[in-house]
Amino acid sequence: MNVQHFRSLLDFSPRELDALIDRATELKALHRSGQPSPQFPGSVMAMIFAKSSTRTRVSFEAGMAQLGGHAMFLSPGDTQLGRGEPIEDTARVVSSMVDVVMIRTFGHDIVERFAAHSSVPVINALTDDFHPCQLLADMQTYREHRGSIVGKRVCWLGDGNNMCNSYINAARQFDFELHIACPEGFAPRADLLEANADRVTVFSDPRDAARDAALLVTDVWASMGQEEEQARRAAALTPYQLNEDLLGVAATDALYMHCLPAHRDEEISAGLMDAPDTVIWDEAENRLHAQKALLERLLSGAREG
Ligand code: CP
Ligand code: NVA
Repeated sequence: MNVQHFRSLLDFSPRELDALIDRATELKALHRSGQPSPQFPGSVMAMIFAKSSTRTRVSFEAGMAQLGGHAMFLSPGDTQLGRGEPIEDTARVVSSMVDVVMIRTFGHDIVERFAAHSSVPVINALTDDFHPCQLLADMQTYREHRGSIVGKRVCWLGDGNNMCNSYINAARQFDFELHIACPEGFAPRADLLEANADRVTVFSDPRDAARDAALLVTDVWASMGQEEEQARRAAALTPYQLNEDLLGVAATDALYMHCLPAHRDEEISAGLMDAPDTVIWDEAENRLHAQKALLERLLSGAREG
């Protein structure tokens, strides 16, 4: 099926991603000025959540309502997915009834398999491997505060998780240099490192990685599904905390981000989380605007296509 999906940042070209970010900023201004943009009355999005969420659910549900459509929350516990109905059969049926599908789940293959059997666009709202929607918001936030990220140095600190993998894809698509600081055993996907060796470097010393960076980013030490590993992970990842000391070696106008939820004084210092000038809250809000731009694009394409 020839349908445009958003399984990872690689599903859109760099030029398309740039346009999405610009549109997100326009939609934000429209929203703030109180101008409604209900372009998709009657459109329905199915939201399949196999993991918890605050930002993703609220931003997609609010965004769809603001675009004039409707979002439907589906959890595996309440659908036949939880009783073993194949993902492929679910994709065929759900996509025959709605206009776009959003999935947050464990294995990335679940999103791939759903998309392969879906007649409508599928959005990856986080898998164990990627979180591309968050990168749209992060790139929008950087651009709004500091302009183009092209050629800049970005430093990822801590676990080489789904967000880190997405930053590797972002380095390619948004054209920046990525330094990853992580301990042995916590590196991101080896195939991604290999494919992007021209712009991504792994460091063991966080200060080396953070030097002159324009943006520092971190995330939780134990992602959803890894809760039982928290103590082991904390022991290894503590030296990689995003804090005032590390910010001191970055560029003087460096920004720092965290996709949230955050644990103060674990992966990020309480001082940085609660700093009055942090952009972390803008970053969270931008999930709404960036995803509205994404929905607009996917729903318009589906209508034309
Ligand atoms: N950042 C993010 O995706 O947050 P939620 O888990 O609350 O959706
Ligand atoms: N890496 C985190 C991101 C949460 C938004 C997780 O997967 O739990």
